[in-house]
Amino acid sequence: MRGFICLTSHPKGCEKNVLNQIDYVKSKGSIEGAKKVLVIGASTGFGLASRITSAFGSNAATIGVFFEKAPQEGKTASPGWYNSAAFESQAKKAGLYAKSINGDAFSTEVKNKTIELIKADLGKIDLIIYSLASPVRTHPVTGVTHRSVLKPIGQSFTNKTVDFHTGIVSNITIEPCNEEDIANTVAVMGGEDWEMWMDALVKADVLSENAMTVAYSYIGPQLTEAVYRKGTIGRAKDHLEATAFTISEKLKSIKGKAYVSVNKALVTQASSAIPVIPLYISLLYKTMKAKGLHEGCIEQIQRLFSERLYTKQAIPTDDKGRIRIDDWEMRDDVQAIVAELWTQATTESLPELGDLNGYKSDFLNLFGFGFTGINYLEDVSELVEIEGLQ
Ligand code: NAI
Repeated sequence: MRGFICLTSHPKGCEKNVLNQIDYVKSKGSIEGAKKVLVIGASTGFGLASRITSAFGSNAATIGVFFEKAPQEGKTASPGWYNSAAFESQAKKAGLYAKSINGDAFSTEVKNKTIELIKADLGKIDLIIYSLASPVRTHPVTGVTHRSVLKPIGQSFTNKTVDFHTGIVSNITIEPCNEEDIANTVAVMGGEDWEMWMDALVKADVLSENAMTVAYSYIGPQLTEAVYRKGTIGRAKDHLEATAFTISEKLKSIKGKAYVSVNKALVTQASSAIPVIPLYISLLYKTMKAKGLHEGCIEQIQRLFSERLYTKQAIPTDDKGRIRIDDWEMRDDVQAIVAELWTQATTESLPELGDLNGYKSDFLNLFGFGFTGINYLEDVSELVEIEGLQ
């Protein structure tokens, strides 16, 4: 471990993670969803769950785009690599089309390569999931490399946070950003690249009539507002949410539509990097588990597809046009308890008040560790191939 990064990953454990998600989706029955799906950011977190739900819930052909490190002799791949290898071999076994592109989704080259693949193999696609989480983006037109920051706007922010490896709760002060930080964060995590993808797909005429695209956002409680929704990343999410309307306009001729779905706070590689959020998540997990409301990425996305996107009724949205699948997280009774626990949380009390173990185990699971049924003492080869890699 180094900070919030785990430096190795386990091929069999990652496979287990994927198999568990496939089993979950199958156990929930079939969804009359899209049949030809492109997932941008398909290898971990919500994107992987979207690919699994499409393939194993709706028998969809999927193309996955991601940016993962391939294994080298003596060096493990990044977990998304092993996840994708496991996904593709399961898809193939189930007779489902699945191919992947590993490269920078922000680049024109990867967009073109994806379009060529769609044209050659699928013709047209019905659903595009946009689930990128990245700290950096090199702009394809200007060549400028933008780096996102996770900072408050206007004034410094002091609050509690937890180092989830040690369990130590401490105060953290985050200094406010400058204007450039906001612009850079919006450039990386805002909607410009999503719109560029959709423009390219429209221009290439590879979208079916009624095609839909969905990107993921987050709101969260007042507790994390200064660093999340009202901070630099929040500005990027505002931009992403506004972009849905711009894209919908552009899709009118094919009767297509763009949506943003607001998802629940979950342990992923992206969210572990945000100060304050891990403490919030550990208290949230404890509360939601006690109420029988807890969901991971796959439960969230399975519910998004089966109870929001593909119900034969109009897709329900809030007053800002967003799909809400964070409804259970944001319930008043849940938030009231979390806010109360927050005031009480200390290094000593957190193991009792929060679900630190759940956090840690979810974090280890992201890298393929901590799964029962895997013999971690057994030798495994790090050199695993992704069958449908282009
Ligand atoms: P993640 O870190 O698990 O997944 C990110 C994906 O993007 C991976 O497949 C990765 O390979 C891919 N990626 C990153 N940079 C890339 C690049 N340059 N080119 C191609 N692929 C690239 O992240 P997570 O948490 O699943 O986030 C996905 C979306 O969901 C983000 O927009 C995030 O803000 C949103 N979200 C996350 C929540 C959370 O609590 N984790 C809550 C609500 C929304």
